[in-house]
Amino acid sequence: MSSLAGKVALITGGGTGIGKGIAERFGREGMKLALAGLDQARNSATHYGGRNLGGFTAATLVAKSIGANAIAIEADVTDRAQVQAMVEKTVKAFGGIDVLVNCAGVITARPIAEMSEDDWDSIMDVNAKGTFLTNQAAVAQMRKQGGAGRIINIASVAGKFGTATLTHYCASKFAVVGFTNALAKEVAREGITVNCICPGIVDTQMWTLLNTAFANPGETPEQVYKRAIERYVPQNEPQTSEDMADMAVFFATAPHVTGQAYNVDGGMDL
Ligand SMILES: NC(=O)c1ccc[n+]([C@@H]2O[C@H](COP(=O)([O-])OP(=O)(O)OC[C@H]3O[C@@H](n4cnc5c(N)ncnc54)[C@H](O)[C@@H]3O)[C@@H](O)[C@H]2O)c1
Repeated sequence: MSSLAGKVALITGGGTGIGKGIAERFGREGMKLALAGLDQARNSATHYGGRNLGGFTAATLVAKSIGANAIAIEADVTDRAQVQAMVEKTVKAFGGIDVLVNCAGVITARPIAEMSEDDWDSIMDVNAKGTFLTNQAAVAQMRKQGGAGRIINIASVAGKFGTATLTHYCASKFAVVGFTNALAKEVAREGITVNCICPGIVDTQMWTLLNTAFANPGETPEQVYKRAIERYVPQNEPQTSEDMADMAVFFATAPHVTGQAYNVDGGMDL
């Protein structure tokens, strides 16, 4: 039996894309899962083209497909009270939190001259402040349980190098990498590890936006996606949510790996 069987994981953004892939894998490992998502964003600049995220509805469907060991929770990671309530609901359902996967994230693409404060704030609020709020609440809960725990933040290769028109997104993901390394040192003596996964290119709804944003005149979204993979990924293949789930299982079990930001990117080295 997996050493993760019976452990409790809270996954933000757990209804779609990479979060869904991690949820399904953790489910197969026998974990108890709280999948958090949001249907209506407060922020207006997102890759959804509006405030309707459908994230809670999606999390509800994933929880249902996993079965009795999974619940869905509606929570906005940019709101401290909702983050606290999310943690309390998880503890009420399953008795504690062993693993936090902080996967909620948003993106837009804007040349610097066109970037509004709203664009900047929307991306920083979810990706950077959301990391702070969810990690802070998880550490408090793990301390109540006597320490020990695993925190896994989903950063990006954009947290290691810059990409034109993604200044705000890159700043937010560099923030996640730095935050992770600093927090890891702060809680290391309590048996809590804090790491991040840096995905490269995964075919989720987030990449749907980039396929349009990065298009040259006349290019189809499929052509943009193929060009991005050929240009940036030495293996010339995209990564998958299952690849991210493999790394999540590793971080969720490794006792002596902390403060790391591990690329799962097919060899990108820009
Ligand atoms: N797809 C990629 O190639 C790629 C690459 C690098 C990093 N990432 C990161 O992976 C993570 C997951 O992205 P994805 O590609 O699966 O896209 P996605 O759009 O499917 O996932 C984002 C999730 O975040 C949730 N969310 C957004 N705002 C929220 C809020 N305020 N509160 C709670 N939940 C909120 C959404 O509902 C959604 O479930 C993100 O952090 C993203 O930056 C993705």
